[in-house]
Amino acid sequence: MAIRILGTGSYLPEKVVTNDELAQVMDTSDEWISSRTGIRSRHISIADTSTTMAVKAAKKALEDGGVKPEELDHIFVATLSGDHATPSTSCEVQKEIGAVNAVCMDLNAACSGFVYALNTAMAYAKAGMGRKMLLIGVETLSKIMDWSDRSTCVLFGDGAGSVVVEADPSRKIYIDAGSDGMKGDVLTCEERHLNNLLVKDDSPMQQVQMDGQEVFKFAVRIIPKSVNKILDAAGVSKDEIKYYILHQANRRIIEAAARRLKEPIEKFPMNVDHCANTSSATIPILLDEVHRNGMLKAGDKIILSGFGGGLTWGSVYLEW
Ligand code: ACO
Repeated sequence: MAIRILGTGSYLPEKVVTNDELAQVMDTSDEWISSRTGIRSRHISIADTSTTMAVKAAKKALEDGGVKPEELDHIFVATLSGDHATPSTSCEVQKEIGAVNAVCMDLNAACSGFVYALNTAMAYAKAGMGRKMLLIGVETLSKIMDWSDRSTCVLFGDGAGSVVVEADPSRKIYIDAGSDGMKGDVLTCEERHLNNLLVKDDSPMQQVQMDGQEVFKFAVRIIPKSVNKILDAAGVSKDEIKYYILHQANRRIIEAAARRLKEPIEKFPMNVDHCANTSSATIPILLDEVHRNGMLKAGDKIILSGFGGGLTWGSVYLEW
């Protein structure tokens, strides 16, 4: 048993903030940001929350897939920036779209979250526990940034992407996922202090902190390794792959991965220039763009691959 994607959707907040606009409020420049990352602008929430963005992306995916909310048996939301610890973003989406028959859960694997959600959906389909499932990657990273740390805050944006999937025994899908908690310190966010009857810790909440160079090295090593692993598992050659939809963190990481895989850069669609890094949302947002631009036809073989905090990584081979 495998799964197939029935529909995709995405949503980006209206407000666009360019590198030049950032340079007006912090010591940076369009030249510094774009030459190191490929990022020119990002969308930043003003009125949107993680829930409102997730709902807007989900409605588009359901409409695209011709699926009614009540047909869904599960909703999985990948996020590290949900609006509440509880209710979960998935339960909030359920309420807003009226998915009355769905079992809902959030999962957090940072930027690999969407691949982990696909992995979960595939396992549910295989176990006979899931038939039609809604998957969302959503982040309001602007609310957890340290806006005084120019080396990190310029890299991120807000947004949501969604797919609706169906269990389908005729499809092939292969997933590789991994975690390395031993190296988790290179990318951290929001340490939750012990603050109870006996211990008081009023130190400020720590925002996103990253050792950029270590993350860079990790990404360019792990993406080709993970992609090669699923190509082997699927018994598919690189020539057969139409697109590699990679986590959109940094153009240079994607170019390095393409070089290591010995694949032409044209097979790596990108939107990091105008979306920046939206963590768990980058892959479904880009997949939606590629799909809506008519770049995919039935039977196309594609690979999705992400890496992120934790550390975590994952790749998926699937047939459109
Ligand atoms: N504008 C101007 N100058 C800056 C900025 C900025 N926004 N940020 C840092 N600098 C300065 C630094 O202060 C430093 O100055 P110094 O030499 O006088 O001390 C200089 O630029 C170089 O800083 P580095 O951190 O060494 O810059 P580097 O070339 O490594 O680039 C970057 C930093 C772009 C973050 C790079 O390491 C990178 O791409 N890492 C990958 C990380 C990534 O993409 N993570 C995505 C999030 S994680 C995820 O998605 C899983």
